[in-house]
Amino acid sequence: MRLADARKDRYRRLAKDQGYRSRSAYKLLQINKSYKILKKGLSVVDLGSAPGGWVQVTQREVGSSGKVVGIDLKEIEPINGAVLLQGDIQDPAIAAIVIDKLDSKADVLLSDLAPNVSGVWDIDHARQISLTKTGLMIAHRVLRKGGNAVFKVFEGSMLEELKSEMRHNFERIQVSKPEASRQESSEMYLVCFNFRAGDTLQPK
Ligand SMILES: C[S@@+](CC[C@H](N)C(=O)[O-])C[C@H]1O[C@@H](n2cnc3c(N)ncnc32)[C@H](O)[C@@H]1O
Repeated sequence: MRLADARKDRYRRLAKDQGYRSRSAYKLLQINKSYKILKKGLSVVDLGSAPGGWVQVTQREVGSSGKVVGIDLKEIEPINGAVLLQGDIQDPAIAAIVIDKLDSKADVLLSDLAPNVSGVWDIDHARQISLTKTGLMIAHRVLRKGGNAVFKVFEGSMLEELKSEMRHNFERIQVSKPEASRQESSEMYLVCFNFRAGDTLQPK
């Protein structure tokens, strides 16, 4: 068995044993171990949540004093304590719906958004970056000043420009490739700290 397949298998088995709905849960656990962005009592918005692995991890980390709102095109089976919405993040009404579910702006925005992949690298990259840019626009509506964020991105020609945009909107960004993310996959994560949040910085 190839090393990458063995690793994939290991995380699939672990997820089954530990009650996580997706292998993706381990990516967020590993990112959080390094960057400590999820803490008790925080309110968190998770974009692209189905089947719910990241929501499960987040709900455990923020505890009953925190708040988690997840959104996906697909229906998500209920998770105790979390608010789960079925909707399109490209719907202009979605940010207002999320705000309505939070008592105040979120402390953290997570985005594990991915399009249905076609297998054509450039097309998948462009679609994924476009989803991430929509995620950033939603951050401008729902994330508090000083908040943190994690965005999944697919590697490709538009990534550098996206990173510059993130640097413009956050004080600091780190690129993370957690061990649970397959080495041969083009995905990586931008961990973004201290949201600047001014209207003047809002992408047009
Ligand atoms: C990699 S999966 C997320 C896995 C999730 N983090 C977990 O741990 O279970 C990416 C998700 O993005 C969602 N997605 C893609 N485009 C979307 C959109 N326009 N609006 C909402 N969700 C979207 C997909 O439906 C898919 O469930």
